Amino acid sequence: MNSFETKTVRDLAVEIPGATRVFEKAGIDYCCGGQRSLADACASAGVTVAEMMNSLEFAKSSPAPAEEPNFLCATLAEIIDHIVTTHHVFTKTELQRLRALIEKVHGVHGDNHPELAQLRSLFQSLSSELEPHMLKEEMVLFPYIVRLETATQHQQSVSAPPFVTVANPVRMMMLEHEAAGYLLEKMRKLTNDYNAPADACFSFKTLYEALPALEKDLHQHIHLENNILFPRAVEMEGELVV
Ligand SMILES: [Fe+2]
Ligand SMILES: [Fe+2]
Repeated sequence: MNSFETKTVRDLAVEIPGATRVFEKAGIDYCCGGQRSLADACASAGVTVAEMMNSLEFAKSSPAPAEEPNFLCATLAEIIDHIVTTHHVFTKTELQRLRALIEKVHGVHGDNHPELAQLRSLFQSLSSELEPHMLKEEMVLFPYIVRLETATQHQQSVSAPPFVTVANPVRMMMLEHEAAGYLLEKMRKLTNDYNAPADACFSFKTLYEALPALEKDLHQHIHLENNILFPRAVEMEGELVV
């Protein structure tokens, strides 16, 4: 058995930067559901393990694109900076833009496409989940992780945070990621994988292109937090000088 097959999806996503693109294309959850073995994940996604292993071997030997830096060697401060300036900025901008677009499309096509009312409601829930979530990360969790790393680099201690241990907000953020992932899944099912209907106007089509792009970015964003940043922060706190 190839060593890939028994590894978890999370481990492969962390070890092979190009693997996240391969998983995204195959519809394999590598952010919140990354603890499954590759064999299990392939069975659920209806992909053969052999095909997936070929794609992963190819990703492993191909250079990562410029927009996918290798975060295994990055400091936690660098990872946080990337998350905030790339993923948080994109998510905030898109949530705002798509909120107006979804209203417009629902207003024009809502009578003929009742699924748009449900899509609007799911999108509102997603926004209400993500906006305060990113704020909590930027205002509370990320500054603490940066302090933690600075203290570690200087072999100093760090004052106890109000949340006692970093594991507490991390657990909360991961639960919120799961909630966002659930909403994204429902949106994808509701829209038949974002297949725009035959009578869709330009705005409708634009919406059905933008939503999967937002979903893809969120998968990468959550993967960076759940699988790289958070485990390293928890480990770092455990090794800190008291
Ligand atoms: Fe985030
Ligand atoms: Fe997050």
